Parts: sequence; C-alpha cells; structure tokens
Amino acid sequence: MSTLRLDDLKQYSDTLRTRHGDVLTLRFVEPRDTDELQHYFRSLSTRSRYNRFFGAISELPKGLLHDFLQVGERERFTVVATMMVDGFETIVAEARYAFHADTSTLEFGLSVDDRWQGHGVGTALLKNLECRAAALGAEHMFGDTLRSNDTMISLARKSGFAFTNHPDDWKLVRFDKEITVAPKEIPCASWRLAALSRQAASPSASA
Ligand SMILES: CC(C)(COP(=O)(O)OP(=O)(O)OC[C@H]1O[C@@H](n2cnc3c(N)ncnc32)[C@H](O)[C@@H]1OP(=O)(O)O)[C@@H](O)C(=O)NCCC(=O)NCCS
Repeated sequence: MSTLRLDDLKQYSDTLRTRHGDVLTLRFVEPRDTDELQHYFRSLSTRSRYNRFFGAISELPKGLLHDFLQVGERERFTVVATMMVDGFETIVAEARYAFHADTSTLEFGLSVDDRWQGHGVGTALLKNLECRAAALGAEHMFGDTLRSNDTMISLARKSGFAFTNHPDDWKLVRFDKEITVAPKEIPCASWRLAALSRQAASPSASA
C-alpha cells in the first residue's frame, strides 16, 4: 500500500482541539520543518525526551532526524501538530507511526510540548492516530512506554488500550488496542487519502 506520494500528502491536514478548544493543525512533516522539529525536541524537558526515546538524548541524532523526515517510506510516517505562536507556525506535538503489513498492526510513539501537556492534546492525537491506523488497514495499534511513565500509561488506559509485557525489555510495557473505528466516527486526512486512492484504483467504485 505504498502508493502515497509526498506531493499528495502535503495537501492533507487535520484539525485537533485541546480540551479548552484551542485549535491545532495536524499534518505530515515536511523538509521545511527540519530546524523547527529539531528545535521542538531540544525544547522538550529532559524527562519528556527520555520518556519519548527511552534514553538520554538532547536532540534527534542525525540518522533519526533523517528517518523522521521520511514520510510514507516503508509505511512510516511522521505528523506534527502545530499552532501559530507570535506569527510563527510552531510544533507543539509530534507522532511517528509505522504500519506493519505482515501483522496488520500500527506501531507508534508520540510527544507533546511540556507547556501543552495535560491539555488533552495527547488524547486528541491518539484518536487521530486510530483513524490513520484504520485507514491503513491495521487491525491493532500499539506502542511501548517505560513502566515509570505514569502519564502515558494513564493516557493509554483512558483511550482504551490494554497492557502487556514488552517481549524483549522488562523496563517497557506495551499498550495495544483493537481498531474498530468506522470512517465517520473519527475523520482524518489518511482516511480521505485511502478512500481517494481506492477510487483511483477502481474508478467505478465511486459511481
Ligand atoms: C504522554 C503524553 C503524550 C500525554 O499527552 P498529554 O497531552 O499530556 O495528555 P492529555 O492531556 O490528553 O491527558 C491524558 C491523560 O493523561 C494523564 N495525565 C496527563 N497529565 C498527567 C500528569 N502530569 N501526571 C499523570 N497523569 C497525567 C491523565 O490521566 C489525563 O487524563 P485526564 O486529563 O482525563 O485526567 C505527554 O505527557 C508527553 O508528551 N510526554 C513525554 C513523551 C512521552 O512520554 N511519550 C510517550 C512515549 S510513546
């Protein structure tokens, strides 16, 4: 299902809302975001970065930064949630997800700017990822987090995920959710994209 081209992806963005109604734009990362993305990760608290990457890093290492900027390659995607701050489009959250076709699963990780944590951004982002998972044809979505990460564990629990041990690392816990969403329940850009690519593959299906 690697038929999506970056040219196509650029047009698609979603709107997320914080608990208090602030509007965020969720879109695929673009090459022009390189500096802003690195700035976002540098600005995260040490604890948030540790929780996101399970290790002490001060910024994205070059290879990982490169991976983050590849959208659609090997069914891996990065999305950024942005808002206008003093006239600049500023990244306030990000998520990276990978579709594993062999197991029909979507694996993901995410983070929210420390100043915006606790405002419902993580909850809204997870919902959106659920739609993206469904659009890609995933039957389950899962992520891993440190056992000490109470916030992520609480967010996952409230979002309907179940917990299992990580297969290889006792310090991590895996949260997993069966995907049951229908397109109308949680609209997202990926769903529209998937519908369009199906129509393109089979024009009569749209009639
Ligand atoms: C984990 C994370 C993504 C949650 O995002 P968020 O936007 O803060 O989450 P929300 O505001 O939607 O809160 C969802 C739930 O998380 C829990 N939560 C939020 N902030 C919390 C805190 N400071 N302490 C404990 N639980 C907290 C609450 O249960 C909350 O639900 P409630 O508001 O109904 O009580 C965010 O804290 C983060 O980016 N952390 C650093 C990176 C990370 O840990 N990533 C996860 C690894 S994949």
